[in-house]
Amino acid sequence: MRSLIDILELTTQEIDELIDVANDIIANPAKYSEKCHGKKLAMLFFEPSTRTRLSFEAAMYELGGNVLGFSEAQSSSSAKGESVADTIRTVSCYADIIAMRHPKEGAPFVATMKSRVPVINAGDGGHNHPTQTLTDLLTIKRKKGKLGGFTIGFCGDLKFGRTVHSLIGALSRYENVKMVLISPDELKIPEYLKEEVLDKKSIEYKEVTSLEQVMPELDILYMTRVQRERFYNEADYIRLKDSYILTPEKLTSAKSDLCVLHPLPRVNEISTAVDDDPRACYFDQVLNGKYVRMALIMKLLEVK
Ligand code: NCD
Repeated sequence: MRSLIDILELTTQEIDELIDVANDIIANPAKYSEKCHGKKLAMLFFEPSTRTRLSFEAAMYELGGNVLGFSEAQSSSSAKGESVADTIRTVSCYADIIAMRHPKEGAPFVATMKSRVPVINAGDGGHNHPTQTLTDLLTIKRKKGKLGGFTIGFCGDLKFGRTVHSLIGALSRYENVKMVLISPDELKIPEYLKEEVLDKKSIEYKEVTSLEQVMPELDILYMTRVQRERFYNEADYIRLKDSYILTPEKLTSAKSDLCVLHPLPRVNEISTAVDDDPRACYFDQVLNGKYVRMALIMKLLEVK
């Protein structure tokens, strides 16, 4: 039995296979409509979510399965003081697979030790978000035709942004990926990622504070929201929240085939005037999230 807590638990070959399945689902959805008939997905969401939660639910329904769960900690026994371990022991009596989002880093990993069924990390604090990474990789593959051989800029909150951490890890395994890390000094990526991923894998990267300065070099621009809920101090959030705002004017110096990604939700960091630009790929990304989660659910349930 396998869970998915960190994207690096999947080999690049397995990621390729998931992308191939997702592409096949997009082309032939009817073929998959009964694949998870009789199976139940439990959704344990201890933190807010729109896309991740609803795309998991839609994914399971489109596979012919069913969904149960809760969308906030307050409506579960965690509000009465129940531990994650006991919640998981309980839920794994009722469901065939679990997707869990939690504000504490490592909570889904702890869950794997108590669960009788596969657990998928749907975001753990400021740490990791592997299924968003699968979504991002599928989108990049569909837009660029390949994973590798490009320069990607990560812009915004690189310190607390879990989607950035997982995507950097995943992309560090492909050939010729250059990374440009664009953030205020206070929101640079954590040291552990530099030491254990970027330096270890000899990735070519640089850290800059200006988006405009690097815009012409980028093939992909991954924008992110400043993660308000991870700040100790509201004043710091207010000071940093509008550090980067992507506008049509800023895109004038960008490549004509730039791909702008964002895991969403956006707050202010991409002007809505950018949405009609053909380079804006973030709503395609939203749709891709459902298909790649369908592929992942089938893989972990060992459905052929
Ligand atoms: C992201 C998350 O939850 O980390 N959202 C998502 O799952 N698509 C990004 C964010 O909240 O900023």
